[in-house]
Amino acid sequence: MSSKEVARIIRVDHAGEYGAISIYSAQLFIAKFFYRDIVNQLQEMLQHEKQHFSTFDDWLKCNNTRPCYALWLWPLGGYILGLVTGLLGRKSIWVCTGAVESTVLHHLDGQLNYLSRHSKSAYQTVLSIKKDEEEHLNLGLQKGSDSIVYLPIQIIVKYSTKFAIWLSMKL
Ligand SMILES: [Fe+2]
Ligand SMILES: [Fe+2]
Repeated sequence: MSSKEVARIIRVDHAGEYGAISIYSAQLFIAKFFYRDIVNQLQEMLQHEKQHFSTFDDWLKCNNTRPCYALWLWPLGGYILGLVTGLLGRKSIWVCTGAVESTVLHHLDGQLNYLSRHSKSAYQTVLSIKKDEEEHLNLGLQKGSDSIVYLPIQIIVKYSTKFAIWLSMKL
């Protein structure tokens, strides 16, 4: 059996992937109408997030661990974030990607540090998604913008992601 903290870690990642699926689904929905040039990239990222979700889902099932009680919050918040950033324009989609993925990666590094000492299976599971998230971050940074205009989006996305992580660690 896994320890309580290990379970909490995988649970929040599981919920986070659910949120990521919703963000990219909402952005994809908008992009199909307005930004056809980025549909393929969004589809690819969405595919990754679906794989990540099932990776964490499998771990939870194999370890008889319940999902997060705040699981419902993630698709709701994710979908709203995705729709709003999608409607604000192509650049803001990538600014959102950069902000989400950098927050996620920062969080993953902290988790990996802990898991390397406490659970080999959980460590491998988290490590297996890192490369994809780094790819997403790079795309976000390349295609986004440092312009001050996008700073509010960056801040809102970053802090809502941090808030959802914080809340999910408690529930
Ligand atoms: Fe992911
Ligand atoms: Fe991602």
